[in-house]
Amino acid sequence: MMVLGLETSCDETSAAVVADGRRTLSNIIHSQLVHQRYGGVVPELAGREHIRRIVPIMEEALGEAGKTLADIEGFAATFGPGLVGALLVGLSFAKVLAWGTGRPFYAVNHLEGHIAANLLAHEEIGDHFLTLLVSGGHTMLIKVEGFGNYTVLGRSVDDASGEAFDKVAKILGLGYPGGAEIDRLARQGNPAYIRFPRAIPDPARLDFSFSGLKTAVALYVKNHPPEEIHEHLADIAASFQEAAVDSLCDKTAIALRRTNLPALALSGGVAANSRLRAKLQEICDRLGVGFMYPPSELCTDNAAMIAAAGAIHLMRGERTPFDVNAVPYQKLY
Ligand SMILES: Nc1ncnc2c1ncn2[C@@H]1O[C@H](COP(=O)(O)OP(=O)(O)OP(=O)(O)O)[C@@H](O)[C@H]1O
Ligand SMILES: [Mg+2]
Repeated sequence: MMVLGLETSCDETSAAVVADGRRTLSNIIHSQLVHQRYGGVVPELAGREHIRRIVPIMEEALGEAGKTLADIEGFAATFGPGLVGALLVGLSFAKVLAWGTGRPFYAVNHLEGHIAANLLAHEEIGDHFLTLLVSGGHTMLIKVEGFGNYTVLGRSVDDASGEAFDKVAKILGLGYPGGAEIDRLARQGNPAYIRFPRAIPDPARLDFSFSGLKTAVALYVKNHPPEEIHEHLADIAASFQEAAVDSLCDKTAIALRRTNLPALALSGGVAANSRLRAKLQEICDRLGVGFMYPPSELCTDNAAMIAAAGAIHLMRGERTPFDVNAVPYQKLY
């Protein structure tokens, strides 16, 4: 089944064509630059940018896939979670396309989209696996027992991991979004330079917490002379990253042991982090479980993962009524 997916939940305008929920024929992603000067996403500007870009980006996605609207057998768009004004653009447009062409429509949960990114990248993924979803808005350990059957084992009780990376990047005077910049800088730094706190060490709980770590970095920067901070920027970035990655890895290892699942699938924007990938690979090798993560362009927001998730539901005959609304705080079922 040929599905066109649209993703406009935050600051990426994206359209993609995916075949059978597994093969990406095109995945056009426009990251909005308008927010950079504000150091964070401005919701009203995001919505306006999506309106300006959505039609040419959809046309580009069709063109690159070598398809026309007549070839599309189903439409999918994110309905939540995300910014309501941003979500409404892609969601409304997908409804219009489905209505106009008489083809089916499915409204995709953005978090399920992130889980589906691994389906596009790994043929061998199987039905049962543990997902560590680490993004700008979420940090969750999810037991997957067949697509659509999820049990949330743990989640962040405060900031999301990506949010922590972005806030620390801001404290260190790096650009926005700062996760990738911290990753790059940390490669030249000493991860043992400062021992920042690892929160919630209690192995009985699979939850995460990152706001204390963020505050620890902020206090460290406040209490040391600017020249020293400047000289050791890479060491501080590496030390922060090590603490964040350790917290994620510890709980993931416990969850893998507890659930006996055969594989770990990492997803979301922070899944692009090189240190996190390397440490999880070590853990999975040691435990004898498979480890997979999507290529970086499928980690951060993109429409291919939305089309993939939508395609699976559409191929099962599931349809979303046209009166579905955008839901900013939508949970993963
Ligand atoms: N290499 C990296 N290392 C660490 N963090 C990274 C890296 N690359 C991207 N990120 C982070 O990923 C986040 C963006 O991911 P994503 O697009 O999945 O989040 P989101 O869509 O904003 O949130 P959500 O999906 O929860 O609604 C940002 O916080 C960014 O800093
Ligand atoms: Mg996302």
